[in-house]
Amino acid sequence: MIIIRQIDEMRRAVRREKGQGRTVGLVPTMGYLHEGHLSLVRLARREADVAVVSLFVNPIQFGPKEDLKSYPRDFERDAARLRIEQVDYLFAPADKEMYPGEHRTFVEVRGLQDRLCGRTRPGHFQGVCTVVMKLFQAIEPDCAVFGRKDAQQALILQRMVADLNIPVRMIVAPIIREPDGLAMSSRNTYLDPAERKAALVLSRSLAEARAAVDAGNRDAAEIVAAMRAAIESEPLARVDYIEAVDPADLAPVAELREGTIVALAVFIGRTRLIDNMLI
Ligand code: PAF
Repeated sequence: MIIIRQIDEMRRAVRREKGQGRTVGLVPTMGYLHEGHLSLVRLARREADVAVVSLFVNPIQFGPKEDLKSYPRDFERDAARLRIEQVDYLFAPADKEMYPGEHRTFVEVRGLQDRLCGRTRPGHFQGVCTVVMKLFQAIEPDCAVFGRKDAQQALILQRMVADLNIPVRMIVAPIIREPDGLAMSSRNTYLDPAERKAALVLSRSLAEARAAVDAGNRDAAEIVAAMRAAIESEPLARVDYIEAVDPADLAPVAELREGTIVALAVFIGRTRLIDNMLI
């Protein structure tokens, strides 16, 4: 695996690969890799000849009171895991390489960025879209793989690619869970043992919602209310939002249909976790 820190060098390497007829798949990450990330890497390797993983903790997608400073980092461990997965290139730029001076250009996907997580994380999706756009410019991948756990992120980025005619095929991969159901996330490492146990309330409430849907209930308000009651019965949990939304505009729906996303964000202690299911 070749580690590259400069945009120019990354672009040259990809152009060399493409010049030899190889396709390039990108997995953008912020590091502290877990099985969920590695499942994206495996998918990228299946979908393209050359796998590039980017590792960059993007400062502009964190709010002023969020966890940028404490975000978990372990470059050597991440690189070792990616070597085992036979990744071809690890692009790990420094902050100064990505944002050398005052940055004045941002990418927004209006409307979609203000819903769900966007309500409590203003500016977050603008930061995500801007950095992904910059990564696409630096790497020029044929395809890029994102996880469905960040369902809103995936939808917003798909919309950005469509609206701006970006020639990248977007692939959205399924959520990978711990054996007990907790969706994998780098932020799970913040949880102490009691919080780790309490965090199961997210996947449990989704499983109960899934059972209700399978039993024929399509009433979004009823399903969301039952999920809220389940989560509020857990003393360490505080609901940020629970919503059933239309994937086209992320607007709340009254009735669950195929394609509806039931998404939630919940604070477990001070850690904010997200999860979702696709009907
Ligand atoms: O999902 C993430 O880890 C990040 O939001 C991403 C897509 C790598 C952009 O920084």
